[in-house]
Amino acid sequence: MEKEKIILDVDTGSDDAVAIICALLSNEFDVLGICTVSGNVNIDNATDNTLRVVDYLNSSVKVYKGASLPLASTLIPWGIQGLTLPHNEIRLDDSKRIHPDHLPLPKPNITYEDKSAVIWLIETLLKQEDHSVTLVPVGPLTNIALAIRSDERILKKIKRIVLMGGSHDVYAPTQGAEFNIWVDPEAAEIVINSGLDVTMVSLDATSCICLDYNEAKRIRDINTRAAIFVADMIEQRLNAAKKTMNKQAGQVVGIALHDPLAVCAIKHPEVLTDIWDTSCHIDLGRSYAYGETVLGRNYQSEINEKGEYVNLPNNIHYVRKANKEIFFNWLYNLLVEDTK
Ligand code: BDR
Ligand code: CA
Repeated sequence: MEKEKIILDVDTGSDDAVAIICALLSNEFDVLGICTVSGNVNIDNATDNTLRVVDYLNSSVKVYKGASLPLASTLIPWGIQGLTLPHNEIRLDDSKRIHPDHLPLPKPNITYEDKSAVIWLIETLLKQEDHSVTLVPVGPLTNIALAIRSDERILKKIKRIVLMGGSHDVYAPTQGAEFNIWVDPEAAEIVINSGLDVTMVSLDATSCICLDYNEAKRIRDINTRAAIFVADMIEQRLNAAKKTMNKQAGQVVGIALHDPLAVCAIKHPEVLTDIWDTSCHIDLGRSYAYGETVLGRNYQSEINEKGEYVNLPNNIHYVRKANKEIFFNWLYNLLVEDTK
């Protein structure tokens, strides 16, 4: 079986860490490199955490440090992104955080490459055959947007983008937006309107694959280094959710592992059970809906020259539901087959 060439773009992050593990353990992928971006934690911690995961797996894949801040969302001093993103010092203590600053892994013995992620992305893509590389961004889309804007020749090298982000029915952190899109709405709008084939594995879809303590234990019992760490991540996310969701304390029975679903979907599209081909734009209005993914599904939004209503062109495949059993079995089997 031919391996799929992929580039991961991560803001590691507890679930990003699991996505990296899945991509590195799977023999279905040729991981060309991993780019980091600020999001869940600041760029230094995202890069350090990524290196911890790569080193823990004894992988030789290279890590490239990327954008330290979103394109524009943090520029408005009173804007919520500016106030709450990790570069600010408003902190919960680590035990209450879904994404602690430092993953509980040894400090890495490897370092990131001496080239910025965006430059590396462009140089690497330009060397590839046309339509041959799948980008898998599971954090804010800053690096990808910067690369696209910097050198549009990369567009024809990209086979498709399978990203984790966006929401329609389930929201966080605001009442209308999903985190990865909300952190850098302008970047997301650039990427989804690039003309590339974009699959958006949304928060709605990842909310279908919540894992609980029993499933964490099943994974822990595999008893490999990677499996134990994945179980740690699931439990840490469950514990943090219990502490922060005050009104529901004690009722958190499962927690989504968002980012690995995007990795799974690349080679196992059957895990995605409800996909809308739709137009999508990101609200850039810097008000309540800033960063919201506005889907055009079923909405007749333009009038053509005949006076008929027509839809805006479809620009994404929006994934609304996923099958938990397929996802869990994929994750479980990857970890069982791991001999590292
Ligand atoms: C996304 O936001 C981040 O917190 C996760 O790592 C995931 O990529 C979910 O909304
Ligand atoms: Ca992420």
